[in-house]
Amino acid sequence: MRATVTAHARFVVSEIDPRLYGSFIEHLGRAVYTGIYEPGHPTADKNGMRCDVIDLVRELSVPIVRYPGGNFVSAYNWEDGVGPREQRPARLDLAWHTTDNNEVGVHEFADWCDAVGCELMYAVNLGSRGLDDARNFLEYANHPGGSYWSDQRIANGRNAPFNIKLWCLGNEMDGPWQIGHKSADEYGRLAHETAKAMRAFDSGIELVVCGSSNAKMATYPQWEATVLDHTYNEVDYISLHMYFDNKADDTPKFLAEAIKLDSYISSVSGVIDFIKAKKRSTKNVYISFDEWNVWYHSHEQDRKILEGNSGWPSAPPLLEDIYNFEDALQVALIINTFIRRSNVVKIACLAQLVNVIAPIMTVPGGPAWRQTTFYPFLFASRYGRGKALDLKVDGPSYHVDELGAVPALDVAAVHDAAAGYLTFFLVNRSGEAIATDISLEGFGQDLAIVEHQLMADADLKAANSAADPEAVVPRPGADAEVRDGKLVADIGAYSYHVIRLKA
Ligand code: AHR
Repeated sequence: MRATVTAHARFVVSEIDPRLYGSFIEHLGRAVYTGIYEPGHPTADKNGMRCDVIDLVRELSVPIVRYPGGNFVSAYNWEDGVGPREQRPARLDLAWHTTDNNEVGVHEFADWCDAVGCELMYAVNLGSRGLDDARNFLEYANHPGGSYWSDQRIANGRNAPFNIKLWCLGNEMDGPWQIGHKSADEYGRLAHETAKAMRAFDSGIELVVCGSSNAKMATYPQWEATVLDHTYNEVDYISLHMYFDNKADDTPKFLAEAIKLDSYISSVSGVIDFIKAKKRSTKNVYISFDEWNVWYHSHEQDRKILEGNSGWPSAPPLLEDIYNFEDALQVALIINTFIRRSNVVKIACLAQLVNVIAPIMTVPGGPAWRQTTFYPFLFASRYGRGKALDLKVDGPSYHVDELGAVPALDVAAVHDAAAGYLTFFLVNRSGEAIATDISLEGFGQDLAIVEHQLMADADLKAANSAADPEAVVPRPGADAEVRDGKLVADIGAYSYHVIRLKA
């Protein structure tokens, strides 16, 4: 098979917001306890945070991490997680049927964010609580001092405000599984009033309102229209979530499904434009895709706990998907979609970061290791900064029922003109090699390949584990060269390539 691609330095989609490579830590399973936090672990710092995990998160260059949930946040009392640790209450978490002893709260998490070098994206509870809780917490977190809540923060050991800039107005409020689930009108009104109060405190914060939990929700996309009708003038982003699975064990279909993500983004983008026009507004609202991933391997094993048949365990293993090679391809396809849509998707969070549907896994008392999905995220986060290019691709496709013709070659490119790098992220989602010619226009004369990373495995189900953490890793790619102003590459069956060129 053959494909031709045209890349031109002046055909640009958008400058990429680095927060496109964000992630997420929820008080869920072992994400916090024995994930990022494990006092007594040989690598633990003075706060009990695992430095081996901090190092891996730093390796991923994650610019922003969403916290503390997820479903968890809809019944969370933030006050439980501040003050002397020995006085913090153990609470039953209704979302995941577990017990949280609150040893980690916003202070510990903000210190962890400083250690990994990321920004904190904080979700307020608009499920069991509301406006009052949100404005109190904002004052606690961001006011310098001299008020009731800010003085409590100072008394709790933190003089400088946390200065949290990005705030989620609840989580998945369209979902009947949510504690405090609401109709679009109920939520829209509450989100509007909460946003107004939060902006009265600080007009410079950024606010994310909940869109649909997934594109299969019966209320989608009317939910977006109603909620934005209430909130358009007060918010900056609308949140979307999407998870993928290969329960049917049908790899061609599984890998094709990333195109559903593209239509989801297009449709919501249309709803945003509709409400913008309806409001005669000049302001833009963008998409915060703050939960995305592959999630299904752990469904069966989690059932007992989630159905409440194991009591209320503390930090049990939950959502511990072990990712295989085809999942890594899917993650690469998802990120390519975000890059191509970076004019409307400004923030995206890989859900999640440690142990819970995560690229990083830990063994309590033992090592931390990288899943297959670690690598496509790593390369995109490191090299996907700059301008996303508007590529023209002409290549083979295959047919999938309900989806139609799906391109076999998926490609995204990012140009960092200041540093002189041009990076291509290529996924062959088919079982046949694709001889690919990419014509390089407007990038100067002397482009040369400086790095070529390849992930390929004859066994699509190959996975890493604590015992064999390097079963699936990237290796240097071959079969690519710059010839006559073209990047010529052989993109093998079921493979992922990152090719970096420098002028
Ligand atoms: O990331 C796991 C869960 O998925 C989150 O808690 C929730 O928001 C979503 O349904």
